[in-house]
Amino acid sequence: MITAQDLHIHLGGNHILRGVSFEVAAGSTFGLVGESGSGKSTVLRAIAGLIPGVEGKLTVDGRLLGAKRDKRFYRQVQMVFQDPYGSLHPRQTVDRILSEPLAVHGIGEADTRIARALAEVALPSSARFRFPHQLSGGQRQRVAIARALIIDPEILLLDEPTSALDVSVQAEVLNLLADISAARRITSILVSHNLAVVAHLCREVAVMQGGQIIETITSEALRAGQAYHEHTQQLIALSHDLEGPAPV
Ligand SMILES: Nc1ncnc2c1ncn2[C@@H]1O[C@H](COP(=O)(O)OP(=O)(O)OP(=O)(O)O)[C@@H](O)[C@H]1O
Ligand SMILES: [Mg+2]
Repeated sequence: MITAQDLHIHLGGNHILRGVSFEVAAGSTFGLVGESGSGKSTVLRAIAGLIPGVEGKLTVDGRLLGAKRDKRFYRQVQMVFQDPYGSLHPRQTVDRILSEPLAVHGIGEADTRIARALAEVALPSSARFRFPHQLSGGQRQRVAIARALIIDPEILLLDEPTSALDVSVQAEVLNLLADISAARRITSILVSHNLAVVAHLCREVAVMQGGQIIETITSEALRAGQAYHEHTQQLIALSHDLEGPAPV
């Protein structure tokens, strides 16, 4: 569903992605881990078309992506960012926030769709006419997820979608994302600092360091500690018990 072949990105005189290649099978969740600054967000931003001058080849659903993404792409691919506060307009109600993508893509039945989207992310209907600051962090991220889902995308790009949340609500939101992705057969890339999270939710995980993918490993191998690369072994050693629940 998604392929990246030998991606290179230069930004501000720095060589930030250095030959990144991977494939994501339709309907699967692909994990991207690595230390801060290793290039994880840059990979997602490159796919989303947010970075000019990407060298290499990117395809989505068999189509080669050019320098400019078309409207069909923006309907098919949606991104969820780390900070739901920053990504939601503070002066717009949830109703307005969810109406906008429908209007942009010319999708009707807004009323029904908004009610359904709120239910799908388990928000009460009373949240509909609230502003972002009147919601909890977890509820705000549910709104951001609803906004991404309301136009029925086939691909979700998730950049640390829960790391700004309290640990107690992280698992809830991650399970919600996993359930919805499975039910809708959505293909996703999940960026996370948390190895336990990606080992739990992804079939395959790519480990990044210094703008390169140093290793792609199945989650079974990751859980069993069977990493090939020394840096991956260090990340595993630094993370909490990969078999157990997320650390509290
Ligand atoms: N617009 C930019 N101009 C110059 N350098 C940039 C730009 N955006 C990112 N970088 C650099 O690219 C590298 C990779 O950044 P990126 O945000 O992809 O890392 P990351 O793996 O997502 O890190 P984190 O886990 O902290 O979110 C970093 O060294 C960063 O400083
Ligand atoms: Mg990042």
